[in-house]
Amino acid sequence: MCGIVGYVGNRSAQDVVIEGLRRMEYRGYDSAGIALVHADALAVDKRAGKLANLEKAIDETPLPSATTGIGHTRWATHGAPNDRNAHPHLGEQRRVGVVHNGIIENFAELRAGLEAEGHDLLSETDTEVTAHLLEREVLAGADLTTAMQNVCRVLEGAFTLVAVDAADPERVVAARRNSPLVVGLGEGENFLGSDVAAFIEFTRDALELDQDQVVTITREGVSVSGFDGTPAEGRPYHVDWDLSAAEKDGHDWFMRKEIFEQPRAVADSLLGRRGRNGLLQLDEMRLSDQELRDIDKIIIIAAGTSFYAGMVAKYAIEHWCRIPVEVELSSEFRYRDPILDYSTLVVAISQSGETADTLQAIRHARTQRSKVLAICNTNGSTIPRESDAVIYTHAGPEIGVASTKGYTTQLVACYLLALYLAQVKGTRYGDEIAQIMAQLEQIPAAITEVLERADEVYALAEEYRTSSSFIFLGRHAGFPVALEGALKLKELAYLHAEGFAAGELKHGPIALIDDGLPVFCIVPPQGRDQLHDKMLSGIQEVRARGARTLCLAEEGDARIEPYADHVVRLPRVPVLLQPLVSVIPLQLFSCELATRLGHDVDQPRNLAKSVTVE
Ligand code: G6P
Repeated sequence: MCGIVGYVGNRSAQDVVIEGLRRMEYRGYDSAGIALVHADALAVDKRAGKLANLEKAIDETPLPSATTGIGHTRWATHGAPNDRNAHPHLGEQRRVGVVHNGIIENFAELRAGLEAEGHDLLSETDTEVTAHLLEREVLAGADLTTAMQNVCRVLEGAFTLVAVDAADPERVVAARRNSPLVVGLGEGENFLGSDVAAFIEFTRDALELDQDQVVTITREGVSVSGFDGTPAEGRPYHVDWDLSAAEKDGHDWFMRKEIFEQPRAVADSLLGRRGRNGLLQLDEMRLSDQELRDIDKIIIIAAGTSFYAGMVAKYAIEHWCRIPVEVELSSEFRYRDPILDYSTLVVAISQSGETADTLQAIRHARTQRSKVLAICNTNGSTIPRESDAVIYTHAGPEIGVASTKGYTTQLVACYLLALYLAQVKGTRYGDEIAQIMAQLEQIPAAITEVLERADEVYALAEEYRTSSSFIFLGRHAGFPVALEGALKLKELAYLHAEGFAAGELKHGPIALIDDGLPVFCIVPPQGRDQLHDKMLSGIQEVRARGARTLCLAEEGDARIEPYADHVVRLPRVPVLLQPLVSVIPLQLFSCELATRLGHDVDQPRNLAKSVTVE
């Protein structure tokens, strides 16, 4: 949800900022812009559309050389995605330039005040008021840091702001409230970014900031304060992944690379979870065993793909731990007055750790005295920092907007949580837990097997390339996978796709079945209660009505063959773990179909990877 970059040092600020924006583009790509400080003036270019448009403009009309600059890639909230609304925004005298991520909720009132003073605002954005307010402060004699502190105290809402002052060329000042910002620490240079990918090429030493802080970077150093000017300190940390992790490694899309990284990502997420005594250990589990034993209800909150990981978690936790679990969209949870207390554990699942809906939901949960555990992939992000405990997923950076390895590693973290609770509560014997852990440890090899059959799935994408509608059916733990398969196709191929619980089909959705409609069927493993039989009945029902059935079924499942137009084979895994393998062909299918349709797979239209507005 908007990517921001700031730089001061000895390099070409244009190169650093544009490179940073390239890595931030997953956060939004409605427009891109840059401001460089040169000869006591700001040189600015900003263009609607992707970063490539800005780069082309700069190639045609080069900007002056500079060693201080800021940049922005936008996911539009206030005002259409055009050149005028693109960031940076400038004060009236073009002395201060600002980029912003978030929403200034009281901007209309601030704008009216500025207009009454005679200010002329050029865009429809909430951001432009901050440029005018900051410039008013510096013109009155404040330095940019003090100006930022003063302005932030009157702003309401969520924001990361990064600003430069043409009259103070060696300083970049930023502030954050409920929106991400990290500092990159270099030698004779320093960086700002929405996340560390913005500067990972130059440094892996970073500084994490708290809410409501202002940070000033110069060549020589970094200083942090509260909005009231009280000196503060950030928390230094070292980033444990490098540039190659943020590059495509020969794949056409980050998404495809990330799909193929899943065996490693899943293995990494399982590493170090078993102690010498054979017991499970979760390092960042800051809740005591007694606190966990006191839990009598779990509410899982999440958005998008993470929500579907939460739905799978419900099956695992209820089965292994016998604790009731509710799964709810974070955007709905916060505003329905949910019933929570100190014995409720709220589990927030978020790849980015910055999703505003989920963040607001955990804040609400904590005011109700519930404990919050975050499952997150992004070290130092806001959601884990504001939670009582965290399980990191160790997937490495996920750049493709549509989540893939983020999802599978979230599933692993959910299984680990379920097993850990079972261990602490004694609802499963130690040997049972060890057996499931051993099965989980086989999953990376199972995912590799599925990936080796990618070509079969790509052939299906070609065959169904002209279909305009798809249905996905699943039962039990396969139901959330059906929903995730449909979401992937909507996100990437912009096609009508619906996921249903196979048993629910006959209660309405079956009316959608028409001649030739492709229906993906996630077939549960055989031989475990009646799931498989029931799924077969559902498949027969749709096939009888003309659907083309694309079945994902385990090796050796011959009973599916008479009813399948195509079978994609899955390795044999336990029923509760099957989502880890059954989702893979669905990811491959949407990635390939979208590619064949000529869409931008990594940056689908209208989406952003990290949605930091409610
Ligand atoms: C956005 C992304 C989705 C993602 C969702 C939740 O909508 O486009 O792919 O699943 O946010 O993100 P989170 O970072 O909280 O998991």
